[in-house]
Amino acid sequence: MEKTKIILDCDPGHDDAVAILLAARDPGIELLGVTVVAGNQTLENTQRNARKVLQWCNCDVPVYAGCPGPLVREKIIAADIHGSTGLDGPVFPELTKPLENEHAVMFMIRTLLESQGDITVVTTGPMTNLAMAIRLEPRIIEKIRRIVLMGGSYTNGNVTPAAEFNIIADAEAAHICFGCGRPIVMVGLDVTRKALCYPEIVERMGKIGNRASDLFVALMGHFCRTQKEVFGWEGGPLHDPVTIAYLIDPSVLTLKPMNVQIDLRSTISYGRTNCDAFGYLQLPPTAEVAVDIDVQRFWDIVETGLRRYSEDDT
Ligand code: BDR
Ligand code: CA
Repeated sequence: MEKTKIILDCDPGHDDAVAILLAARDPGIELLGVTVVAGNQTLENTQRNARKVLQWCNCDVPVYAGCPGPLVREKIIAADIHGSTGLDGPVFPELTKPLENEHAVMFMIRTLLESQGDITVVTTGPMTNLAMAIRLEPRIIEKIRRIVLMGGSYTNGNVTPAAEFNIIADAEAAHICFGCGRPIVMVGLDVTRKALCYPEIVERMGKIGNRASDLFVALMGHFCRTQKEVFGWEGGPLHDPVTIAYLIDPSVLTLKPMNVQIDLRSTISYGRTNCDAFGYLQLPPTAEVAVDIDVQRFWDIVETGLRRYSEDDT
């Protein structure tokens, strides 16, 4: 079976960490590199967190640090959810996994230019790195097989009534990426808010009893508590891993083509992903937007992904 080659651009982040866990070991995915951006926390924290997660799981995937802030707007972080480190909860051993010297944007450009046009770029944080790469070297555009992103919403946001975190954190970058003309799959809050990690899910994953499941349980302990404090959810929405679950089994999501435009102009709706679900604008679709998720299948994929780490213990 031909593997799906991906670059995972993220801002770990508890849910990013689970996305890394799933992507790093799936036999159908070739994770070429983890590129990191400021988002849930500062770049200093997010790049360290990516390395901590990969080291924890003995994964030899290189980590590249990218942009320390958005293209235009002021930086925002999500410390209320992810804590002062961006990955509060688990206790990690001393960090020995190195950070690559190459800048994440240069890694993206180099890797895409050298490719056969077969690389999927998955973004689970603000889209700053990819937008920078597109602006710096537009020849990469035709090399991107597609973009699969966690971000946006066609209903409500989670930072403002209109806007989701990854988009509002760098709306100009999202605008550049959504306008690049390559196939896009948008995995927004509309579906990720159905992937709620209830206590029974944490218990189910905990029973696996390997390094990855231990980390999952420790991560969710913090994440589900802050999600409850901030949003009142009984289970935290596990946003970012839905992108990887979709790559593993596309049937987990129902997609609908829509024209999607990022609101960069208005005040209270700044950062909204305007998704023309009913074709009012009569404009061509620019993205496949996830409108439904098979929740049971999603948790099965997560469980299978975590179980893959049991091989380490035998
Ligand atoms: C997104 O924002 C971040 O806090 C999460 O990691 C996820 O990528 C959800 O809005
Ligand atoms: Ca994220």
